Amino acid sequence: MTINEIAAKRRSIRKYNGQSVSREQLETLVRFAQEAPSWKNQQTSRYHIVTTPETIVAARQCLGGSNPQKTEGVGALIITSFKHDIVGHTHGVADNEGGNGWGWYDLGLQNAYLLLKASEMNLDTLVIGIRSAERLRDLLQIPEDETIGAVIAIGHRVEDAQRPPRKELEEIVNFY
Ligand SMILES: Cc1cc2nc3c(=O)[nH]c(=O)nc-3n(C[C@H](O)[C@H](O)[C@H](O)COP(=O)(O)O)c2cc1C
Repeated sequence: MTINEIAAKRRSIRKYNGQSVSREQLETLVRFAQEAPSWKNQQTSRYHIVTTPETIVAARQCLGGSNPQKTEGVGALIITSFKHDIVGHTHGVADNEGGNGWGWYDLGLQNAYLLLKASEMNLDTLVIGIRSAERLRDLLQIPEDETIGAVIAIGHRVEDAQRPPRKELEEIVNFY
């Protein structure tokens, strides 16, 4: 598959068929995500991966809006986080206005790699931002020095999803 085909196949999937995702597959995803660049190669992104049925149910209850329903039948939930006050910082002081935004940036880069690798492996995903970080922290005992980011649902789609339209290039690009 070309990178264009992998990207075209990736869609946010909101209905899963209950098929499991193996630990080996999950490790392959994280290993690939690690190939993303990071600020001074600090690699502050972290992954808390839930695979047992009971913990998946408990973690789904930490999601907001209709996300608990959308994640029924997933094979795994990956709670992503990053060690804060490191990236974009020197001795705990922000290097510029980005501050911990750079930690979010690095985590997002790694997560994008992970989503594309999943697509290549015929796994489907949903990035979930509407979630309770505090409830997830309590459930999984995630350390306080980590900022919790998105939850990534992984599994197998029941049906294909439409591609939401993208903006015209003229709206988002300036050439100088
Ligand atoms: C940071 C982030 C948070 C998101 N949060 C949610 C969410 O809570 N629930 C949901 O159904 N989709 C969520 N999405 C998925 C977006 O709605 C989706 O990516 C967008 O509509 C484009 O569709 P596509 O992923 O199929 O290209 C999120 C995506 C991102 C990148």
